[in-house]
Amino acid sequence: MKFKSMKTFLSLLILLLANAVTGQAVVQIGNVEATSVDQNVIHLKTQNAFIEIIPYSQNIIRFRIDKKPLKKDFSYAVTAKPESIKANISQEGNEIKISTASINCVIQKKPFSVAIYTKDGKVINEDAKGFTTSWADNSVTTYKKMQNGERFIGLGEKSGNLDRKGNAYTNWNTDAAGYDNGTDPLYSDVPFYIGLHDHLSYGIFLDNTYQTDFNFGASNDIFSSFGARGGEMNYYFIYDNSVAKIITDYTWLTGRMKMPPLWSLGYQQSKWSYFPDTMVLHIAHELRNKHFPADGMVLDIDYMDKYQLFTWNKKYFPHPHVMTDSLRKLGFRTTVIVDPGIKIAPEAPAYQKGLKEDVYLKYPNGQYYSGQVWPGWCNFVDFTSEKGRAYWRSQMSFFAKNGVSGVWNDMNEISTWGQRTPNNILYNYDGRGANNLEGHNVYALNMVRSSYEGMKQITGVRPFILSRSGYAGLQRYSAIWTGDNQPNDDHMLLGVRLLNSMGLSGLAFTGMDISGFLGNATPELFTRWMQIGAFMPYCRNHKITGAKPAEPWCYGEDALNNSRSYIELRYHLLPYLYSTFYEATQDGLPVNRSLAIDYTFQDDVYKEDFQNQYLFGNNIMVAPFKSTDTKGKIYLPANDNWYDFYTDRKFDGGQVIDTKVTLDRLPLYIKAGSIIPMQSLIQSTADMPTDTLVLQVYNDNKANSFAYYEDDGESYRYQKGDDYKRIIKFNPRDRKIEFSKVEGAFVSKFKYVKILLHGFNDTYSEQKQQYFSALPYKISAENKNGYIAVKVIVAANAENEFSIKY
Ligand code: GLC
Repeated sequence: MKFKSMKTFLSLLILLLANAVTGQAVVQIGNVEATSVDQNVIHLKTQNAFIEIIPYSQNIIRFRIDKKPLKKDFSYAVTAKPESIKANISQEGNEIKISTASINCVIQKKPFSVAIYTKDGKVINEDAKGFTTSWADNSVTTYKKMQNGERFIGLGEKSGNLDRKGNAYTNWNTDAAGYDNGTDPLYSDVPFYIGLHDHLSYGIFLDNTYQTDFNFGASNDIFSSFGARGGEMNYYFIYDNSVAKIITDYTWLTGRMKMPPLWSLGYQQSKWSYFPDTMVLHIAHELRNKHFPADGMVLDIDYMDKYQLFTWNKKYFPHPHVMTDSLRKLGFRTTVIVDPGIKIAPEAPAYQKGLKEDVYLKYPNGQYYSGQVWPGWCNFVDFTSEKGRAYWRSQMSFFAKNGVSGVWNDMNEISTWGQRTPNNILYNYDGRGANNLEGHNVYALNMVRSSYEGMKQITGVRPFILSRSGYAGLQRYSAIWTGDNQPNDDHMLLGVRLLNSMGLSGLAFTGMDISGFLGNATPELFTRWMQIGAFMPYCRNHKITGAKPAEPWCYGEDALNNSRSYIELRYHLLPYLYSTFYEATQDGLPVNRSLAIDYTFQDDVYKEDFQNQYLFGNNIMVAPFKSTDTKGKIYLPANDNWYDFYTDRKFDGGQVIDTKVTLDRLPLYIKAGSIIPMQSLIQSTADMPTDTLVLQVYNDNKANSFAYYEDDGESYRYQKGDDYKRIIKFNPRDRKIEFSKVEGAFVSKFKYVKILLHGFNDTYSEQKQQYFSALPYKISAENKNGYIAVKVIVAANAENEFSIKY
């Protein structure tokens, strides 16, 4: 071959070299060279990879891909085993087809690429042409074609907009104190998102504990992608016909929460830190004196002796049990903070025990890893080892014997001064061995697992566990809060979106520090945040040390009254809230539900003005506004009709309404057709409400039902059938409220049911006014579609089915 010039020769040479470099720098998966099927699992070998495709259920297909032969399967997140379904697997020419009852998956062999279709042939999701799965060094990434109009929601604790399109995110658990709307990553990670397009929804869960990276069309318009900095490409593709069902499928894979103790749904008062014990009791007494309903006092790091775990500061807390007993008598439970770092103090029994049992994380040379946290230099329990977890479980007796009911797991990213856990720390990873790159993201999950199991074993009752960090599956053990937030309006609304996003990701029990942890709130901000807080799964007011006192009475009379009335409303709503939590244990649906769950394909849901709106449970829509707003717009989703909670005025869904915004009212709308069970006001869940359960029924032309749930609120007896379940149906066609037969052996605490009918074209009744007399506003009678109390009083524990005609 002759070259026209030296220049041509050189340019060709450069091109050839460049190709060779690209070829090496990105390793493509290549063509399928061998195929075999073994008990429903499809094994493929491509030029550069080993693949397993596992039909997990009719709706879920799992893909495992690695450059090396696949290792023995192991996961901290997934607890479900593949269902024994019969998938149809066939091969023809260049294609392998896998069909289940709900999807058809087509694998192209040259090169390997995946496409998944509905049974009637619509594309749900497909690898981006020419990209599919590839490696850049040790990072593996799968590229999916960006579908027309595709949106992306979820991915756990991620700031930013509800629709994540155009953005990219990283999962690496981080102490992100003072984060803002663009900060990423935050404290916890759940590598699971839901994609939406063409009235189709699907979920992708990447179960890989290395740093993972998701790109939803950031800096490119061809693909969305997900990948990990190490380990195998291991993802579960989930298809179902609604977002709610996808969440149910995902929590089938990764587990659901257990019933929480009832007291943990009450208001929790926290501060860094209340001490001495007399101060803790003083605050509790003040809450009672001011008739501010509350259930929990939370102790931050100063209860310890020099921040040393498993100690009490003897000066401030000489008799911890006496204090927790006194709190209990006042109707309060005690939650205490724990950090994973144990102070290197050779004389301390807990530290010594850890040494003896050899439970701490190590460097490869066998030296213990040490980092600095509150107490100074610490060693850290390796929660990925059974012996580490066993040590921690037994240490929980320290709290149990002192009357503590809740364990708040902080700093478990791991956070240390300097914020860089070295990559050469070794984790046991349940016998598999891992370095920090693989172990870091599952540290917190295994910590709360140990706290939960320890407290449960020792006390025999439901513990309350709270965590700052975590990984997919955290919901099995713990609630989670959003760390060190800022005292401003944007942060409050950002927090609302964080909770909504975590709810889309299997985390039902979530909260944020009411009023902003990192400093002082204005009285207005405090008020608005408390009102929104009344509609959060975990409702805790928490403040940094050094800030002004932040108890509800510290912001003036108006703030006290306007926030108390909403906490009172929360206590009225406990039967509704508790039943909603039961739903989370059954189908994984969150308590705070982004409107994207039920109104997935309504564009307004994703608009900046409306993306913070959410449903608290199935029936109450909350429209959060800034404390400085005086007016605003609310989107009332289509396909349902809505009642203004305060006036009972009925609105058609599918419209945007203007509203005045004032500090004495948090805009709330009730879905027409709702049945909302409520109880009389109590000051603590330790108190008994009156014997009458009040059902608020909101008229509509569509039938609706509510799954009412009750149990003793504390023990595990509900798991053995000692609970009370009853379906209550609103049946407008026959003008009936129907009660199913009671399931379960528990005897309801309510003897009577009173029904309040709303929007039934009857006259205004005084009943609601009396019932809500605690609220600082008047129920207006202006609306002709008022409500009426039905005079029938029925025995709630009449076991058999019955109905009431109206
Ligand atoms: C961390 C926690 C915060 C706690 C503080 C002291 O910053 O996020 O909630 O108050 O540590 O323990």
